[in-house]
Amino acid sequence: MSNSWLIKNYISHLITAKRSGHGVHSPFVYKLTENVFNTQQHFYAFEELSELRKDLRENETELVINDMGAGSQKMQGAKRKVKDIALHGISSQKQSELLFKLANYLKSKVIIELGTSLGLTTLYLSYSDTNSKIYALEGSESLIEFSKKLFAKKERTNITSIQGNFDQTLPQLLSQLSSFDLLYIDGNHTYEATLRYFNLALEKATSDSVIIFDDIYWSKGMTKAWEEIKQHEKVKLTIDCFYFGMVFFRDEQKQKEHFKIFI
Ligand SMILES: C[S@@+](CC[C@H](N)C(=O)[O-])C[C@H]1O[C@@H](n2cnc3c(N)ncnc32)[C@H](O)[C@@H]1O
Repeated sequence: MSNSWLIKNYISHLITAKRSGHGVHSPFVYKLTENVFNTQQHFYAFEELSELRKDLRENETELVINDMGAGSQKMQGAKRKVKDIALHGISSQKQSELLFKLANYLKSKVIIELGTSLGLTTLYLSYSDTNSKIYALEGSESLIEFSKKLFAKKERTNITSIQGNFDQTLPQLLSQLSSFDLLYIDGNHTYEATLRYFNLALEKATSDSVIIFDDIYWSKGMTKAWEEIKQHEKVKLTIDCFYFGMVFFRDEQKQKEHFKIFI
């Protein structure tokens, strides 16, 4: 952790977040903590994908990246090695596994990932249910090409790669879908872009949809966006687990509730 905003909020999270389902007075959130956040259940895909992560972390291939977003705090310049992206620019193993478990538990069938990068987290989502459909959105051509090769190597048939700026590809995709089940927003971490993507997605969110925002404490702007999203009238329940902010729209939830959980 290299930025003071992140560290300050991490310390606050350590003090205030609940460590288990005990004392969580929401049956839905209690079940999530038991079945998703704290489950020791073994999934066979985890070993295979953890091996792939190791391979990517040793991959010397150089890619020229056209970054259409807020960029990286750790990697500068257009030329980046696959191993550096795998180390510094993608979701951690813990985060990817959490997304797999969440999609698996919620039985998410229509999944959108904003920011595919090398495609590793996309693969986790793809393995969560072979009957699901994953839309993987990415701006950089070289990353799209790299991830497509990975998907082919792993014989994934439930992933559709979409290249272009989220500002065009997200509304285009949403206009073709009647709804989505899980949306993972993991690219272009600015206040304005985050709210823009959230507002676009709202039109196709149902009572069963979940939106996961990565890096809500990456910057003051991201935290401001997260706080505003929590207040939106359509949002019924939120879970802040520090590195992810999760938003639910459940009709069953009569009063808005916000939880902080240590995962
Ligand atoms: C953090 S990485 C995604 C990591 C990936 N979800 C994973 O965990 O493996 C963010 C990606 O979003 C892409 N991106 C950022 N802003 C974008 C935009 N406005 N349009 C399209 N792609 C964008 C970047 O090129 C980058 O590859």
